[in-house]
Amino acid sequence: MSQGPIPKSWISAIHAYVPGKSTGADGRPLIKLSANENPLGTSPAALAARADAAGPHRYPDPDSKDLRRAIAEVHGLDPALVVMGTGSDELLNLAAQGYAGVGDEVLFPRYSFSVYDIAARRCGATPVVADDLDYGTDVDALLALVSERTRVVFIANPNNPTGSYLPKGELERLHAGLPGDVLLVIDQAYAEYVAPEDDDGGFALAKAHGNVLVTRTFSKIYGLAGERVGWGTGAAGIIDTLNRIRGPFNVTNNAQCHGDGGGRRP
Ligand SMILES: Cc1ncc(COP(=O)(O)O)c(C=O)c1O
Repeated sequence: MSQGPIPKSWISAIHAYVPGKSTGADGRPLIKLSANENPLGTSPAALAARADAAGPHRYPDPDSKDLRRAIAEVHGLDPALVVMGTGSDELLNLAAQGYAGVGDEVLFPRYSFSVYDIAARRCGATPVVADDLDYGTDVDALLALVSERTRVVFIANPNNPTGSYLPKGELERLHAGLPGDVLLVIDQAYAEYVAPEDDDGGFALAKAHGNVLVTRTFSKIYGLAGERVGWGTGAAGIIDTLNRIRGPFNVTNNAQCHGDGGGRRP
């Protein structure tokens, strides 16, 4: 028998994502605080909206139009500049895939979200890890590693797993130091845990520049991790790129449901 198909060398080099434990030694279910599963559960209003979702026999709206409109309204964004993902994980992977490949570099700080390394390797790019500063993001260390091959920089702000946080001025300094053709991904999975006065200015950067993608998720504070719904916003060119390569029906009927009637189809 032949040995079968041979995976790309960069795929074989990936260490698959290691999820936290969801059951204890005695078999009891655990709330995964390491993944910030919401220990309070899901809002009853979200559960009620989900009860009205279109049936599983129907394909969901491929463009998640109602949900994008609702998100845009809440955050003062242009719905055309919002892209949906199967969790923000999908968008992080698509950001790397859309802009980096073999021979390119994807840069991120040590002790940040483990998906960045996988996202880089999935598309054949080389992950480059900048030293941390006392477990936080070191802007100077990142900028020192930017090379002609750098295509994407990932920052989790606030960061997982260290909980560190880059203030607005530092994020702006990082962006200002990057060439315009390098994509800065500001992963705001935990943005809702930051006081409004400490906003890192990610949306403003994404509105003002053509090379910034901000990603958000319903998995954490909204207690909807199981529905896999994430979103991102950035310049039209970035949103167009991600829409070209995302799954065509990547947000389920349940996940598209919201209080204003979105996702309800006969
Ligand atoms: C920093 C960070 N970004 C993104 C994600 C992905 O979240 P999801 O795919 O559920 O939206 C996580 C989840 O643990 C995270 O910690």
